[in-house]
Amino acid sequence: MKLLVKNIATLAGIDYEPIARRQGAQMRELNCIDHAYLLVEDGVIADFGAEADMPAINGDMTVVDAKGGTVLPSWCDSHTHIVYAGSREQEFVDKINGLSYAEIARRGGGILNSADRLHALTEDELYEQAMCRVREVIAKGTGAIEIKSGYGLNTEDELKMLRVIRRIQESTRLRVVSTFLGAHAVGRAYSGRQAEYVDMLINEMLPAVAQEHLADYVDVFCDEGFFTPEETGRILEKALDYGMRGKIHGQELADSGGVEVAVKHCALSVDHLEAMTDRDIELLRGSETMPTALPGTSFFLNMPFAPARKMIEAGLGVAIASDYNPGSTPSGDMKFAVSLACIKMRLQPAEAINAATINTAYAMGISDSYGSISVGKVANFFITQPIPSIDFIPYAYTTPIIRRVFLAGEEQ
Ligand code: NIG
Ligand code: FE
Repeated sequence: MKLLVKNIATLAGIDYEPIARRQGAQMRELNCIDHAYLLVEDGVIADFGAEADMPAINGDMTVVDAKGGTVLPSWCDSHTHIVYAGSREQEFVDKINGLSYAEIARRGGGILNSADRLHALTEDELYEQAMCRVREVIAKGTGAIEIKSGYGLNTEDELKMLRVIRRIQESTRLRVVSTFLGAHAVGRAYSGRQAEYVDMLINEMLPAVAQEHLADYVDVFCDEGFFTPEETGRILEKALDYGMRGKIHGQELADSGGVEVAVKHCALSVDHLEAMTDRDIELLRGSETMPTALPGTSFFLNMPFAPARKMIEAGLGVAIASDYNPGSTPSGDMKFAVSLACIKMRLQPAEAINAATINTAYAMGISDSYGSISVGKVANFFITQPIPSIDFIPYAYTTPIIRRVFLAGEEQ
């Protein structure tokens, strides 16, 4: 089955050679071809180039006319919590009235509020609610997504969430990566007994998750008021025994050691970083851990933005993800995250696009097959309306520029 996309004004985000991630000055490299074509075979990118070299159209090809639009690799969103129940707009109003995210959490709202709601839903209901968000982000150009558990906070409900993630994996063309986040908060049944909750997570939850192969990675909310670096280290060590690497929530609310423990245990990513220090930047240099900024969270919570410009100047690669969740970021709009990265974190458009494609693919461990236009990679891409340049994408920060979306070569 062949699909030929013609009349592409600009084909962007090309990798001629395999590259796992872009770091430092490389983040400004966004390879493009003007007046291009793209050939897909059996869901995989087979060829691309200048329109002058386009293969002859024959009967076994489906031809797609890009009508002078730009083609980009689909966004990769390496940090979401989109399997959740209901919504939390009351807390949004509480925040407008002056309460902080941490204060709401301390009152038993926040994550525990979502855990109560999730407990009351069946797996089918949870799946239906999550699928609404999945359809929304596909239409907005996301082609690969990481989804975390973490609103269960007891073994049964965590497994329920992870099974819903698996169902999403099986029922869409989206590439779904699954992360077990039992250490998102201490479950209500263990209130005041955090150490016992961590023991239970290690001895009961992790083996159950591993036995059903329900997660690719393990996450811990390592921050002030949540889990300590020591607890995080124990969980990450045990997870590695089951073949699952870490993806850490760290340095969001305070300078609380999240980066150090992530690097020490070779976590694939450390995310948030609003409160990261110069020492953290040094720790990340030369490591395999991808620092991931979540600009939508800073925007929604009115908090400082992660120092992404500084990280890039220090030679690091940076990823940006949405953090789509009901409390701190009720949005999975990756184009908006790219705009925020430019406007608030001073990234160049090319840097922000690399941060939201190849580097977020790296932060999910899938950059060998997603995150750029490259022969042999899965054909996940979108076609925009005609736009004057790549820079227009973050500039027109609320314009819905996407005309057509293809996942594994299939129109969505
Ligand atoms: O990444 N910071 C921790 N967890 C989520 C928020 C979860 C929630 O408030 O429901 C985050 O922002
Ligand atoms: Fe998160």
